[in-house]
Amino acid sequence: MRALRLERLEGPEGLLLTEVPEPEAGDQVLIDVRAAGVSFPDLLLSRGQYQMKPSLPFVPGVEVAGVVRHAPEGAAVKAGDRVMAFTLLGGWADVVAAAPGMTFPIPEGWSFEAAAGTVMNYHTAHFALHRRGRLREGETVLVHGAAGGVGTASLQVARGAGARVLAVVSSEEKAEVARSAGADRAFLSTSGDWVSQVKEATGGRGVDVVLDPVGGDIFDLSLKCLAPEGRLLVVGFAGGRIPEVKVNRLLLKNVDVVGVAWGSFLLHEPGITAEISRALASLAEKGFVEPVVGPVFPLEQAAQALRALESRTAVGKVVLRVR
Ligand SMILES: NC(=O)c1ccc[n+]([C@@H]2O[C@H](COP(=O)([O-])OP(=O)(O)OC[C@H]3O[C@@H](n4cnc5c(N)ncnc54)[C@H](OP(=O)(O)O)[C@@H]3O)[C@@H](O)[C@H]2O)c1
Repeated sequence: MRALRLERLEGPEGLLLTEVPEPEAGDQVLIDVRAAGVSFPDLLLSRGQYQMKPSLPFVPGVEVAGVVRHAPEGAAVKAGDRVMAFTLLGGWADVVAAAPGMTFPIPEGWSFEAAAGTVMNYHTAHFALHRRGRLREGETVLVHGAAGGVGTASLQVARGAGARVLAVVSSEEKAEVARSAGADRAFLSTSGDWVSQVKEATGGRGVDVVLDPVGGDIFDLSLKCLAPEGRLLVVGFAGGRIPEVKVNRLLLKNVDVVGVAWGSFLLHEPGITAEISRALASLAEKGFVEPVVGPVFPLEQAAQALRALESRTAVGKVVLRVR
C-alpha cells in the first residue's frame, strides 16, 4: 500500500511517499482510508518536538476517516461501515489499523473530509471544557486560535453547552470563520487590545473559561481576562513559547490554571471515550457539531499541508484526501 513515511526529523521535508506492507488486523479495526486529518501534533512529531518520540522511520497521521474492511468480534462497527478513528500514528496511508474503542460511525450526511479531522479535536474540546473546565450553561468562554482545528471544535462544543462564546484570531478572514463556526464575537490578537475588548464585551467582569491552544503571550494576557473563579485551560503551545505563571496572581484573583492532556487521560480513565462520543453524537444531531473543513490536499502533498499549519495560513481543519 502507499504510505507517507517520515524518514528524517526535518518537518515537512522529512516525508517520503513510499510502498509499505499493509498492517495486520489482529484485534484492531482495519480501515481503508479515504481522508486523514493533519494536526499540529503531526507537525511537532515530524520535528521530534512532540512528547511521544517514535523511532524512525514511521508513518504519521493521528486520525482518519474511511470504510471498515475488517472488524474484530465484539466491535461496535462492522465491514463496510463508514467510520472515523483516532490512530495516533499510521493514518497517512491507504490502510490503517485502529483500536475498536477509538473507531466511531460517521454521523449521517458528513463527508469523509469532514469526519477525518474530528475525533481528536472534538474529544479534546469536550474533555477540556466539561471535565477539566467544569463549564456550566450560561457561562462565557473565550477560545484562542479559534479558526484552527481545536479552536473551531471548541467553539461548537462550548455553544452546545449553552455558553456564550468569544473568539480570538489573528486575521479578519479567520474572524469570519470563527463567527460562522459559532462565535458570538471575534477579536483580533493583532489589534493589541483584545484584552480590553473582551473586558468590555463582558461588562468588565471577564470570562469564566479561556481555552488556550496557543500559549506564549496569549496565555499571559488571558490571565487578565478571567472572571473571579475563572479557569484558564492549557491545551497547547502552537505559538511556540511555553508560558510560566506566578501563582500569587492565581491567589489574588481566585482563578485556576488547568492542564488538559486528552490523550494521556485515556490511559487513566478509558471509559471517558464512550461517554464523550455519546455526548458529541448528540451535539451533532442537534446541529452544534459540524466540522469546519479547511484546505484539502492530496496525500502526496502532505508536506504542503504541514507547511500550511506551520505558516499559520491554514483556516479550518486541514485534511488529506487519500483515495
Ligand atoms: N492538550 C491536548 O490534549 C491537545 C489535543 C490536540 C491538540 N493539542 C494542541 O493544540 C494546539 C492546536 O492544534 P490544532 O491542530 O488546532 O492546530 P491549528 O489548526 O494549526 O490551530 C492552531 C492555531 O494557533 C494559532 N497560532 C498562534 N501562533 C501560531 C504559530 N506560531 N504557528 C501556528 N499557529 C499559531 C493560529 O491561530 P491564529 O493565527 O488565529 O492565532 C492557529 O490557527 C497544538 O499545540 C496541539 O499540539 C492539544
